Amino acid sequence: MKQIVIISPSVRKGRKSHKVAMYLKNFLEETNLAKPEIIDFMKYNFPIFHERLEYQDSPSPEIIGFSEKIKSADGVVIITPEYNGGYPASLKNAIDLLTGEWRRKPVAFVPVSDGNFAGSQVIISLQFTLWKLGAITVPGPLRIPNIITAFDESGIPADKSAIDKKALNLIKELLWYIEAKSRMSE
Ligand SMILES: Cc1cc2nc3c(=O)[nH]c(=O)nc-3n(C[C@H](O)[C@H](O)[C@H](O)COP(=O)(O)O)c2cc1C
Repeated sequence: MKQIVIISPSVRKGRKSHKVAMYLKNFLEETNLAKPEIIDFMKYNFPIFHERLEYQDSPSPEIIGFSEKIKSADGVVIITPEYNGGYPASLKNAIDLLTGEWRRKPVAFVPVSDGNFAGSQVIISLQFTLWKLGAITVPGPLRIPNIITAFDESGIPADKSAIDKKALNLIKELLWYIEAKSRMSE
């Protein structure tokens, strides 16, 4: 079964987007579509970026662990809130630590916001950064507006069938790119 890492980057006090990471993990387990693992930046406490992992003399175990998880994942889903039209500094801080780990890695995004527009602007900057790193950015239909009411605190969507349908389409698309990549590696 394919391994999908779900990055939950918000380290904001009272954060809401983590509910979507919990939902997606449950969804992948329920449907048996992939083996999910959440990388929760709240648990990592990465220092402010000072150098890429490959040039660090004594990298922390957290940074090495992060690198290994991204390297071994078949695909990645980033649950990203929109902060002032871009993605959070916590996410940029971690993306920039790695280089080759992102290359040809299929990466899908789930933008999240508390308004009606579902953080749709965040995709532009995030996609560009990952394109620069050589990732395979996967288009997908799962965007979460009104996060405060869209999910309960345990990650159950208010409209589960509608969200499940979009999540299924996103994961199918991600799995397609993962399969396409594995055929190129044969
Ligand atoms: C610094 C900051 C900037 C924000 N800017 C936007 C924005 O540009 N567009 C938007 O739709 N929501 C914006 N919001 C609202 C977020 O969508 C909302 O707080 C969401 O819950 C953030 O995810 P989090 O709770 O997991 O941190 C912003 C929130 C913060 C804290």
